[in-house]
Amino acid sequence: MGHLLTDLTIATFNAGKLIEYRTMLAGIRLNVRALSDFPDVADVEETADTFAGNAILKAVGYARATGSVTLADDSGLEVAALDGRPGVLSARYGGENTSFAEKMSLLLNEIAKTGSSDRRARFVCVAAIADESGKILHTARGECTGMIAAEPRGKHGFGYDPLFVPDGFEMTFGELPDEIKHQISHRAAAFAQIIPYLRDNTAV
Ligand code: IMP
Repeated sequence: MGHLLTDLTIATFNAGKLIEYRTMLAGIRLNVRALSDFPDVADVEETADTFAGNAILKAVGYARATGSVTLADDSGLEVAALDGRPGVLSARYGGENTSFAEKMSLLLNEIAKTGSSDRRARFVCVAAIADESGKILHTARGECTGMIAAEPRGKHGFGYDPLFVPDGFEMTFGELPDEIKHQISHRAAAFAQIIPYLRDNTAV
């Protein structure tokens, strides 16, 4: 085992993701920071074509740039009728500057155009932790399977949440209470594998 971790930087500018991570990390003795605490750090481009590739690019890039142990994730929505799209391009689907209302309406139109009645979809999250030298300490992948609703419903969560009905539920992530999402989300699934690593490597 290496030295004990005291600080962890979460490599995201996404406020919704940050809230989920802070909630999930609440029981672990770590000083959690976000990229907003490092205003001079330049963006790391997500140029890989897999979730794992992008998570590793971001963990390594931001760990070196901030000089701190960094957790990065890459996540997105894979829709069966669209052969897995938008996938790694979820945040940029329909253009970087389109709203999620527009992205969701584009997604529904695209599914309708296929003529398919297959509504299956899944959120995927790959998380990676790198140390300040850029060495990968840990990676984990989580999935949350479900269906695409006929139209967006609810105001909770972020991104595509109003369109996603997780398996075992009838409400969308936009309608379900945040606590439920935080228990069953793709990030929670990836995180369940990261928690033991963090517990083993932080002071109790
Ligand atoms: P990333 O920040 O590169 O990982 O891109 C993640 C993108 O995937 C977000 O901008 C959303 O479009 C989508 N996404 C990931 N996780 C969620 C979620 O939990 N709910 C809704 N949309 C999500």
